[in-house]
Formats: sequence, C-alpha cells, structure tokens
Amino acid sequence: IRLKAELAVQINQLKKERNAVILGHNYMEPALFHSIPDFKGDSLELARKAAETDKDIIVFCGVRFMAETAKILSPEKTVLLPAEKAGCSLAESITADDIRLLREKFPGVPVVTYVNTYAEVKAESDVCCTSGNAKAVVESLNSDTVIFLPDEYLAGNVARETGKHIIFPTKMKGWPEIKLDTDLDYQIIGWHGKCEVHELFTVEDIENARKLYPDVVVLAHPECSPEVTARADFAGSTSAMIKYVEQHDAPHYLLLTECSMGDNIMAAHPEKEMLRLCTHRCPHMAEITLEDTLQSLKQTRYVIEVPEDIRKRAEKAVRRMIELF
Ligand code: 13P
Ligand code: SF4
Repeated sequence: IRLKAELAVQINQLKKERNAVILGHNYMEPALFHSIPDFKGDSLELARKAAETDKDIIVFCGVRFMAETAKILSPEKTVLLPAEKAGCSLAESITADDIRLLREKFPGVPVVTYVNTYAEVKAESDVCCTSGNAKAVVESLNSDTVIFLPDEYLAGNVARETGKHIIFPTKMKGWPEIKLDTDLDYQIIGWHGKCEVHELFTVEDIENARKLYPDVVVLAHPECSPEVTARADFAGSTSAMIKYVEQHDAPHYLLLTECSMGDNIMAAHPEKEMLRLCTHRCPHMAEITLEDTLQSLKQTRYVIEVPEDIRKRAEKAVRRMIELF
C-alpha cells in the first residue's frame, strides 16, 4: 500500500511538471482510481474531457480505443496509454472492411458504431455512440433501419428499448447476398461482437442473488445480454450505475459489470454493500497499473497515433455524437 501511495505522489508531481492531465476510466483498480486521475468517468464523459483539455499531454488510464478517441478529438496533444496493448474484445471484433461490405449490401442505411472500436472502424461510420446514449443516438437518426455495430448485446438492448427488430446478416443464409426483410418496418442490423467480461453474466447469477438477498437491487451494464438486462432493476453506463447507487439507499446491490468498479464504489462509500463477481475482471483494463503510468509519464510512452485521413473521418462520427448529447 505504501509503495502504491509513493507511486501516486510521484505521478502527481510529474503530471504537473509535464503539464499533463490524467483521465481514469471507472474500471481502474482502486489504488489508481482514487489517487491520480484529474477526471474519472465512463467513455462518454472521458471523451468530452479529452476534447476540452488545454494540457499538453493526455495520459489515458483506460483501454486503447478510449485513448484513440482522445487523440481523434485532440490531435495536437500527445496522448499516452500506459500499457502497450490494452485491447478490447469488442474493438477486435470488427474491421473497416466489414463496414464497407455492410454498406454495399445495405445502401443508404445509417451506420452507428459503438465507441468500443478502433479509429479505422469509426472512420467508416456515420455516428458513434456509447452505452450511455446508444438508444438516443439511434432515435436521433429517424431511420426505420439502422446498422448498429459491433456489440450484439448492446444492439439487442437498444432494439428492445426502441421497439425495433434485430437481424444479424452474418448468421443468415446467403450472406453477403442477404436482403432486408421488407415486411419488418423497424430493423437494427447487428454484428456478433461481444464483451468478453459482460457476456459471462447470466440470468442464474441474478436469480441466485435474489434468493440469497430478496431485497437486492440489480444493476447491469448494457453490454450484458438482453435476457440479463431485462431482469435487472437498472441498466446503464458505468457512470450511470455509480450515480444510481449514490442516489439510492438499498441494503445490497448486485453489480453486473467489471469487478473493480464495485471496489471503487465501496472505497468511496463504505456504507454501500456491493455484491459482485470478482472472477469477472477485464484483463485489458487490468493492464493499466500505477507503475506503468509513472513510466508512461517518465518515458512519454506509449504514444497513440492515428493517421490524419482516418482521424478526420473518425472525428466526424465522434463529434456528431458529442454534439447530439
Ligand atoms: P462505459 O462507457 O459505460 O464506461 O463502458 C465502457 C466499457 O468498456 C464497458 O465495458
Ligand atoms: Fe472491452 Fe469488455 Fe473490457 Fe469494456 S470490459 S474494455 S468492453 S473487454
């Protein structure tokens, strides 16, 4: 603990000397989350902070797609990711070629892309969304049919909330010759990406918790399956779940999301009891440590670069989302 506290002191000092800002996602481990970020939050909140900062350096304590989003919005800044890879199973599930093929097959249909994707995928999209605004972004398009990528479960959750049918072209016989079913008025064309952490939560997890604690309040991230979110009391982005806990007074909460977030809530609010499955830690978020953040600032590593032609096109999709909400 002492070593971590010393690391945090060094990081905070170096942060000032280098005129850097540290952004920390809600999934960072407690020792880091509660000591060094200037701003903490979910993907949308941190994207906004990245767009607004006047510092020279942005150190992103989160995963690569988040740091890339910061670079897309602030190209003149040096953006650093403390770990070399820090990937994401959703970001790795789709390529720019996949989107180009979908556009060929479904001409004129708008493409909404979850921010959990890499820059070249965002560059092929009309607008981005996060878990906090996915439904509102889809509705803002006023289009009967929408391509929504790459999270199958987030798409399923948005389909349920917007009353749209969901179809998966890659599952259908004849892909890529598949045509839209014209009998269905409202359709979301999805993709088969999944979050390797949130896909682990099951309806049984909820049932077991309710048996043990009949008064438990269940919170789920929308990257969980629609069967799971349908049985939860609340589904929302990481920050929306934190706010929910802060604003309610339940005896127990079951948190169906990455496990560190429960640790962070309990550290800030020891009176709240957060039930969670700590086998479900995001291995990519866990790559970001205090030690590596210090080295990141000392050695100016790992610098995030996005080729300018891709960045400009990706920026349009990200800014369209930010300007909407
Ligand atoms: P939020 O935008 O809700 O913070 O989610 C990001 C994420 O990667 C969840 O797994
Ligand atoms: Fe990606 Fe899932 Fe990790 Fe979030 S929790 S960064 S969606 S792998």
